Amino acid sequence: MPDRNDAQQGVIVGVLFSEVDTPPNTAAAGEFLLLHASGAYLTLKNDGSMDINAPGGIKITGNVTVTGTITASGDVIGAGISLDNHEHLYNPGNGGATLTGKGQD
Ligand SMILES: [Fe+2]
Repeated sequence: MPDRNDAQQGVIVGVLFSEVDTPPNTAAAGEFLLLHASGAYLTLKNDGSMDINAPGGIKITGNVTVTGTITASGDVIGAGISLDNHEHLYNPGNGGATLTGKGQD
C-alpha cells in the first residue's frame, strides 16, 4: 500500500499465506494472523477460537463482561485482594474473631 504522501514509499499491510507459503507461526491456512516484530501476535483460528500472545501484557480500559468460565494458571487479584493469598475473619465460638489461613474458601 503506498504512503499517502509519497507513493514511492510503500507499506506492507498484509500477506496471504497458503499451505505452500506457510506463515512464520503456528497459524494454519485459512486463519488470520496479526504478527508484530516483538513476537506478539493475535490469531483468529479456523475452529472459531482466538489465540493472543502478548509478552508485554494486555491492558484493557473499560468494563469487561465474560460469558463463560475464566481459568487462570496464576493468581487473580481484585481490588488489591489476592484470590490465592487472602484471609477471612471468623468467629468459632467464644472469644474474638480469628483469621483463617490463606487460601481458604
Ligand atoms: Fe475468600
